[in-house]
Amino acid sequence: MEAGGRGTAAAEEEPGSTIKADHKQVVREALSDDRKVMTKSSAVDLVTQTDQKVEKLIIQSVKEKFPQHRFIGEESVAAGEPSILTDDPTWIIDPIDGTTNFVHAFPFVAISIGFTINKRVEVGVVYSCLEDKMFTARRGGGAFCNGEPLQVSDQTDVHRSIIATEFGSNRDPEVVDKIFSSLRNILSLPVHGVRGAGTAAVNLSLVASGCVEAYYEMGMHVWDIAAGSLLVLEAGGIVMDVDGGDADLMSRRILAANNRSVALRLVEQIAPYRPDRDDAPPAACD
Ligand code: IPD
Repeated sequence: MEAGGRGTAAAEEEPGSTIKADHKQVVREALSDDRKVMTKSSAVDLVTQTDQKVEKLIIQSVKEKFPQHRFIGEESVAAGEPSILTDDPTWIIDPIDGTTNFVHAFPFVAISIGFTINKRVEVGVVYSCLEDKMFTARRGGGAFCNGEPLQVSDQTDVHRSIIATEFGSNRDPEVVDKIFSSLRNILSLPVHGVRGAGTAAVNLSLVASGCVEAYYEMGMHVWDIAAGSLLVLEAGGIVMDVDGGDADLMSRRILAANNRSVALRLVEQIAPYRPDRDDAPPAACD
């Protein structure tokens, strides 16, 4: 274990240094190449060789410094690694958040890395590759974009808000109905607008930056939100479950907002559903 023990040395590092120049370069170069697209849980849950390559590079460089730490990486989990969050120092990695955007060259793609100790996010880094924006946060140390401090919006009236959300990759008609029911309720509050960047990490960085008042989703994964949720908290916002209860990183449900009053108005409008948890045991085979 590194000096300081239990991950403290990692928590004290310059957060943005986890994402190296070559990680950024791989994503940028791949955007101008032909991208071979594969599918995972469904025909619209996409992955490319770049996702796998960037995740390997990140894990390799972290392991060189912190060989004892654990990892939960999107592509490692897709390849069969467990997705269990323990109290041990753990790096939670999404090598390309917004893979569908990446495949279509829709210009919002992020690398997202959260670092947890005792199941709590201590450091969060989101690099928005095409905007060249490095968002960083350390628990108790504030949130920053390219070194400039971030602050959530001070809007308390949900009717004057922009709300971010996503459609996700579950096309089960009951889930799609819930998504549209929430959307209809929120649009007709009314709110100023509903947006979605196509990456949970970027949506959370938009809440932290004060560009949108809130972001909610059900169905995303822990690697999509670990880093971004700390950005929101450290920029003065709040993170909770979509039903108003405590946030749970592994639940695949999130509501992040600039303040409680906006969040609770949204809780009243959201039609909740429970995706399988990220730490659910694998389904038994018959
Ligand atoms: C996806 C993005 C998307 C969200 C999905 C995520 P990926 O992550 O964050 O915005 O709607 O739920 O799975 O697959 O591009 O890393």
